[in-house]
Amino acid sequence: MSFLQNFRENWLRPALFFGNNPISLAGGAITTASGVTMVGYWIAELVGHLNENPYLGIIFSLILPILFVIGLGLIPIGVLARRRKLMRAGQIPAAYPKIDLNDRIFRHGLDIVLVTTIVNLLVVATASYRGADYMDSPQFCGQSCHVMNPEYTAYQVGAHSHVACVQCHIGEGAEAYFSAKVNGTKQIIEVAFDRYPRPIPSPVTNLRPARYTCEACHTPTRFDGDKLLVKSEFADDEKNTETQTVLILHLGGVDSLSHLTGIHGVHLGHIEYIATDSTRTTIPWVERENPDGSYTVYSSLPAGSRAPQGERRTMDCIDCHNRAAHPFQPAQEALNQAMADGIISANLPWIHKEGLQLLNATYTSQAQARAEIPQALTAFYRKSNPDVLTAKGPQVKAAAQELATLYSENVFPSMKVTWGTHPNHIGHMSYPGCFRCHDGSHVAKNGEAIPQDCSVCHNLLSVEEAKPKVLSDLGIQQVVVGSTY
Ligand code: HEC
Ligand code: HEC
Ligand code: HEC
Ligand code: HEC
Ligand code: HEC
Repeated sequence: MSFLQNFRENWLRPALFFGNNPISLAGGAITTASGVTMVGYWIAELVGHLNENPYLGIIFSLILPILFVIGLGLIPIGVLARRRKLMRAGQIPAAYPKIDLNDRIFRHGLDIVLVTTIVNLLVVATASYRGADYMDSPQFCGQSCHVMNPEYTAYQVGAHSHVACVQCHIGEGAEAYFSAKVNGTKQIIEVAFDRYPRPIPSPVTNLRPARYTCEACHTPTRFDGDKLLVKSEFADDEKNTETQTVLILHLGGVDSLSHLTGIHGVHLGHIEYIATDSTRTTIPWVERENPDGSYTVYSSLPAGSRAPQGERRTMDCIDCHNRAAHPFQPAQEALNQAMADGIISANLPWIHKEGLQLLNATYTSQAQARAEIPQALTAFYRKSNPDVLTAKGPQVKAAAQELATLYSENVFPSMKVTWGTHPNHIGHMSYPGCFRCHDGSHVAKNGEAIPQDCSVCHNLLSVEEAKPKVLSDLGIQQVVVGSTY
């Protein structure tokens, strides 16, 4: 018996015979319907722009493919069930209804089975690829899951808004991908049963070393030299008096003589530390590997103490840039920046003092803040200085709206994320940051401390001066108000 004949007599005929049952037929219908819908969606996506609604994504990239496969699975289940039933009843025919290949209709039926099988395989392959791809998209990670709302919101205003979540949270390599998917599934279950922690804890303990993530795009040793930083601040007086702090930050790197210099040069690869709290803020023990291979331990513990318990971590990018993608700002900084940018007009009397109070007030939800902040600001001017409302109505309105926006970008009552929940390690003004180690109390055996001298890290060219001369000398008109990353 030729292969084809064998296939026809012993496989195809019984399959068609047993396949004629409600379960298999329903399976075929489900598969056909979901398959056609998916393919239609893919074509629509190819030719036009569909909106990036995350729920559409869930339906077309995750649910329909699952239905498609369930449908496919129902077909053999129906076949087996009918076979069992007929066998029990002793009704299995001696010979299955004959397949007459001369019968044109039957021949076409066969062609259809063959073609649909190939098409089904293609659809399943494409759907799995697209499903995996979709699960890697910021829309899926950030939007379809309300739990990620704080991080997704901050991400969109950060410097990495075009970098996919997975490029930092997973990085390259199959192993990382697999463990991330296992972890992700656990998280989806936590979300489904409302058992996730609020806020989502930071740091992310299983984030891979920066070598595999940040360094895919950034060269750690690039020489950045000195960087000019300007910070604007506004006072709590009627005029919102503006002052500026100007500093030259010694960013360094690897210079042309291969010397490791400055902030970027000195830490990477040879400093380890142990933090004793979950946010890596309290760091009593630091060890540096010296160029000659010896080690120096800097400790803030009483002399003679041993290294504390805890994870021993090699310093990398995110020990300073921990908010590179999700920059939540302190209220004070967010307000100063919006005023320096002119979005909140510094010509409105008392706006800094009043604005800060409104930002720091307690609201039960973002919606409540969005409703109450504008009302409260208008009420304030109506009571204290009604002329402002008539003369500068639109500016008051814009300021109120921006205050509500600042609140919504940084505070998420439903996730218990408020001002300061996620500290930023980059400086030392709002949070300990660099001073977690550079506080003068981390001392080596020889008495040498991790330096706190201001000039090691920066030259202060002006500290809180109104219209600093250095800015006009340099001809700087428009300044970026520092970086928050
Ligand atoms: C440029 C790299 C980068 C990108 C892109 C990125 N993250 Fe992160 N993410 C981080 C780092 C770094 C941390 C903080 C880790 C730490 O402090 O140890 C973090 C922390 C988090 C946390 C923990 C809570 C917190 O706020 O610290 C969540 C949740 C999170 N990211 C979600 C996302 C989502 C969702 C996206 C995409 C919309 C995303 N991330 C994109 C680097 C990134
Ligand atoms: C997929 C590429 C990519 C990855 C991964 C990535 N970055 Fe970036 N990063 C960029 C790009 C592109 C910019 C410049 C953005 C711009 O200028 O608008 C940038 C900018 C920055 C900046 C400067 C921000 C500013 O205010 O100018 C810092 C700091 C930074 N990245 C740190 C990190 C850290 C830390 C990580 C790892 C957690 C990381 N990046 C991962 C691409 C990446
Ligand atoms: C010891 C702390 C520290 C470490 C570690 C560190 N950085 Fe930075 N980095 C800084 C500071 C401080 C700045 C300046 C911040 C500012 O502009 O306000 C900066 C600025 C940057 C910038 C912006 C440069 C520019 O010209 O504006 C990039 C990009 C950057 N870092 C990437 C990285 C990457 C990638 C790593 C890891 C390989 C890294 N940094 C490790 C402290 C650090
Ligand atoms: C985990 C501890 C730790 C943190 C956090 C840390 N550093 Fe350091 N830093 C060190 C150690 C250790 C040295 C080496 C001390 C030495 O060589 O005398 C050092 C050295 C330096 C130096 C060179 C000092 C010199 O004598 O030339 C600079 C500049 C510097 N750090 C800047 C920063 C900045 C800026 C930050 C914050 C963005 C920061 N560091 C955060 C541990 C830390
Ligand atoms: C270990 C490094 C380091 C040391 C030591 C240090 N600073 Fe800084 N400082 C920084 C960094 C980094 C920034 C920039 C933070 C940022 O990018 O926003 C900064 C910013 C500042 C700012 C402007 C911040 C703002 O938000 O207005 C002032 C003022 C300042 N430092 C004062 C000092 C003084 C005074 C000393 C000495 C007692 C000192 N710093 C010591 C690293 C250091």
